[in-house]
Amino acid sequence: MATRATILNVLLLTSLQLLLTCHVTLAAGGKWDLLLSNVGISAMHMQLLPNGRVVMFDRTNFGPSNISLPNGKCRDNPQDAVSRIDCTAHSIEYNVASNKVRPLTVQSNTWCSSGSLRPDGVLVQTGGDRDGELKARTFTPCDNDECDWVEINNGLARRRWYASNHILPNGQQIVIGGQAQFNYEFFPKTTSPNVIALPFLAETSDRGEENNLYPYVFLNTDGNLFIFANNRAILFNYVNNTVVKTYPTIPGGDPRSYPSTGSAVLLPLKNLEADKIDAEVLVCGGAPKGSFIAAFRRKTFVKALDTCARIKINDETPQWTVEKMPHARVMGDMTLLPNGEVLLINGGSAGSAAWELGREPVFVPDLYHPENPVNSRFESLNPSTIPRMYHSTAILLPDGRVLVGGSNPHAFYEFTNVLFPTELSLEAFSPAYLEPESAKLRPKIVSPKSQSTIAYGTNLKVKFTVAGNVKGPIKVTMVFPSFTTHSFSMNQRLLVLDNVRVKRIGSGLRGLFGKSKDYEVQVRTPRSAIIAPPGYYMMFVVNENIPSEGIWVRLQ
Ligand SMILES: *[C@@H]1O[C@H](CO)[C@@H](O)[C@H](O)[C@H]1NC(C)=O
Ligand SMILES: *[C@@H]1O[C@H](CO)[C@@H](O)[C@H](O)[C@H]1NC(C)=O
Repeated sequence: MATRATILNVLLLTSLQLLLTCHVTLAAGGKWDLLLSNVGISAMHMQLLPNGRVVMFDRTNFGPSNISLPNGKCRDNPQDAVSRIDCTAHSIEYNVASNKVRPLTVQSNTWCSSGSLRPDGVLVQTGGDRDGELKARTFTPCDNDECDWVEINNGLARRRWYASNHILPNGQQIVIGGQAQFNYEFFPKTTSPNVIALPFLAETSDRGEENNLYPYVFLNTDGNLFIFANNRAILFNYVNNTVVKTYPTIPGGDPRSYPSTGSAVLLPLKNLEADKIDAEVLVCGGAPKGSFIAAFRRKTFVKALDTCARIKINDETPQWTVEKMPHARVMGDMTLLPNGEVLLINGGSAGSAAWELGREPVFVPDLYHPENPVNSRFESLNPSTIPRMYHSTAILLPDGRVLVGGSNPHAFYEFTNVLFPTELSLEAFSPAYLEPESAKLRPKIVSPKSQSTIAYGTNLKVKFTVAGNVKGPIKVTMVFPSFTTHSFSMNQRLLVLDNVRVKRIGSGLRGLFGKSKDYEVQVRTPRSAIIAPPGYYMMFVVNENIPSEGIWVRLQ
């Protein structure tokens, strides 16, 4: 009898373990949470602010949204033929901590615009459509719910619709391209006439389809800009207006930028003290040439591209390495996670960007491990249930979650009788590192305090606690909060700080697991504003790939 009971017990245990194993396997793929089912607008553009709030906006000239302007205010814009009087908001502030939204007031059209955080944490947004095309707008973060947009007439020298911005080492921003604009300018304006020709944009514009809008722009570690449009890239000296290097055409030659929208990231920058930093760019997805025209004219939805191409941009003779993705993806977002991994999320696997032209939503996010060998870098994660097609967005939050919103907004917010109805919900994707199983490994930063100012090129002591033991090397990372729209996160940049040393500085009785251990890691802050433009960064301590919650530091 005893033996039988034991066997039964063993069997029970085994099935229990199996169940647990199944659960763990699922959990390893992350988790989705619906944060709010209706934020009132379509989250077409998103920017995280250094006070932990997120500004979002869509466009002003497509009818009333689902959130009213405060205090009975209305917008009366004689230049807006479609919705001259509109008492609803087309921009909101999302308070991550309270999970609440507040309506904001934009007067002119912000549709398909661009932006960047200024070094002082103020959001500067540029351009849009029609009455908004020459506007610049600022939003100064506040904690008292009183701040709102300020609009600057003729902030821009040229109409900027589908342009890309990048923060520069001197704290200004460069605004590159936009529809029918084969040039760039600076904000604030510095030169006169402040418009400088960029023939590369004319060369990469496909007739009828363009395929060079929202170019992927990254500040290289040598001070030049890496600019990718359509199917190729240049290294560009924006000070002297010279092309420093022309990169090979991406293998296969298919376009990767709007409307053949893929996405791109500058992979984590590391060994920052080296003379030459091995900066790498990863471009993923997109649509074969002609996909936009096929979808628009013939309602034929071509399968999206299922490849990524990666290149070391500082090599003497740079070459693209092509990798296959688990899913074909157009209009996907690429988000750098605090541990240096890349999340590919949102989009569809057929058709093209632009209104109603995407098909076959990809519900499964794919995680890219840049440090793994080729062919073992992708991992598919748990799916969402909400299609996130054209005009969807994803940004990293300081707590390590990824905020996801937007999708086809449709002209005049359509909730019925359309393929992908206007989506007003906000979701959070929590990567596996946020699972309770990782709590023992998760560091908690004790100092510096959030909102501290840090200097360039100094040794910085970061104190943190961990419940379990620290076994491997500790990583300290800094992430610049990006302006995200149309599958591209402008200014997205992750720095892995050079690690000087880690030491145990005692232990205390605290936390869920009893003993929590105190450590100090000494890191080198970035040596220059070229490597890390001035401004607010989220700083994370990463232990065995598990990141702490981020704190804000201001680098200056
Ligand atoms: C938002 O939608 C809800 C549900 O359809 C509706 O009751 C409400 O009046 C709408 N609000 C605005 C400001 O449009
Ligand atoms: C631009 O050109 C001038 C004159 O040749 C040179 O002195 C300067 O260093 C250049 N600047 C950059 C950033 O290349």
